Amino acid sequence: MSENRKIIVTVCVGSSCHIKGARDVIMRFNEMLKEEGIEDKVELKGSFCMERCGEGINWQIDEEPLTSSYVDDAVKVFRERVIRPVKDEM
Ligand code: FES
Repeated sequence: MSENRKIIVTVCVGSSCHIKGARDVIMRFNEMLKEEGIEDKVELKGSFCMERCGEGINWQIDEEPLTSSYVDDAVKVFRERVIRPVKDEM
């Protein structure tokens, strides 16, 4: 990963994912980035329906599609796949 490249994390905020907690996922991700002081390394975005409704909360790290059953699952994956690698590079 180059120093200037931001990781783009996109969370679906379509109605099905919203009901499962997509808003909380975005809030938690945001809080974690702030706590770690790495808001400038990761861009958080919302997206319209990713057309994978029903599978859980749908989101992406860059182009990689992910599905989390619960908010806490998404937080765990975010910590392992986004927070930790960014911190390791600092
Ligand atoms: S509402 Fe999220 S995939 Fe459809």
